[in-house]
Amino acid sequence: MRVIEVRSAEARDEAALWELIRAFPTPTPISADAYARMFQRKLDDPCALIAVARQGETLVGYVSGHKHSAFYAAGDTAWVDEIFVVNHGRRMGVGRSLMTAFESWADDVGCKLASLATIGAADFYRALGYATKAGYFKKYLGDGKQSTEPSRQAK
Ligand SMILES: CC(C)(COP(=O)(O)OP(=O)(O)OC[C@H]1O[C@@H](n2cnc3c(N)ncnc32)[C@H](O)[C@@H]1OP(=O)(O)O)[C@@H](O)C(=O)NCCC(=O)NCCS
Repeated sequence: MRVIEVRSAEARDEAALWELIRAFPTPTPISADAYARMFQRKLDDPCALIAVARQGETLVGYVSGHKHSAFYAAGDTAWVDEIFVVNHGRRMGVGRSLMTAFESWADDVGCKLASLATIGAADFYRALGYATKAGYFKKYLGDGKQSTEPSRQAK
């Protein structure tokens, strides 16, 4: 697949990105209203990045993450919340291009470390030079009960 463009998301990407967000495997699917609010908030947040990959007029992938300060990292660190490439676009370098864009942004905003959690994409991250270190634990707060069925989860 020839990727024409990997760039930061813009307001005009909202509808096309929604189709990919809906396809991302997660036990906590997002509503359209919540997505619209979060999309705008992330665009306005200098500590957040959404990068999109477009082939022509079609959006074929995205990565979303943010930076925060962590004592253990002695500075700012970047966290990949999620990355997704459409089925027919996989294994052609789109995910790698998105992660390159994410790392470049993280470097530009002063991060010394990029990290993430995954179940199914470990080999992808290993191929990009990531090493596994700490275990990832999560706990849903409030009264929401979430499925633990792994087949629908990337996280
Ligand atoms: C993970 C994902 C983003 C990879 O995107 P992609 O565009 O297929 O990745 P690339 O083609 O850029 O692959 C980069 C490298 O990762 C490796 N890789 C990618 N997918 C792999 C897989 N399923 N198994 C083994 N290695 C894989 C390849 O070795 C490749 O190296 P190469 O360039 O030497 O061939 C994509 O499979 C996806 O969207 N999966 C569903 C969502 C998901 O699980 N996201 C991650 C959790 S947040």
